[in-house]
Amino acid sequence: MAFVVAEPCVKCKYTDCVDVCPVECFFEGENMLVISPDECIDCGACVPECPAEAIFDEDEVPEQWEEYIELNARLAEEWVDSPITEKKDALPDADEWKDVESKRQHLSETPA
Ligand code: SF4
Ligand code: F3S
Repeated sequence: MAFVVAEPCVKCKYTDCVDVCPVECFFEGENMLVISPDECIDCGACVPECPAEAIFDEDEVPEQWEEYIELNARLAEEWVDSPITEKKDALPDADEWKDVESKRQHLSETPA
């Protein structure tokens, strides 16, 4: 089991989540982060830190974002050379994108 970054992170990438993570399980893409299910210790500390409410327990990912369970696992491997362990500036238009409902088509699979 692990925690999962879902669609609200896309185009926002606030990165508050990485500051509280006791292990190094966040990996960075161009416009979102993912959690490596192999590294996550299920502490849940990152969940309340995300301004976009993008992080869920794997068992509680809303149905419309279930695809992100597999996406986090796959992209964490593909982005293995782009770990992120410290907070940085959010993407410039993060506040405008935070409440946009459907952002799947904007997800970039390019590592940061
Ligand atoms: Fe890190 Fe804990 Fe969040 Fe997993 S649940 S990503 S270990 S802060
Ligand atoms: Fe993304 Fe939220 Fe972290 S927007 S980068 S999951 S703080």
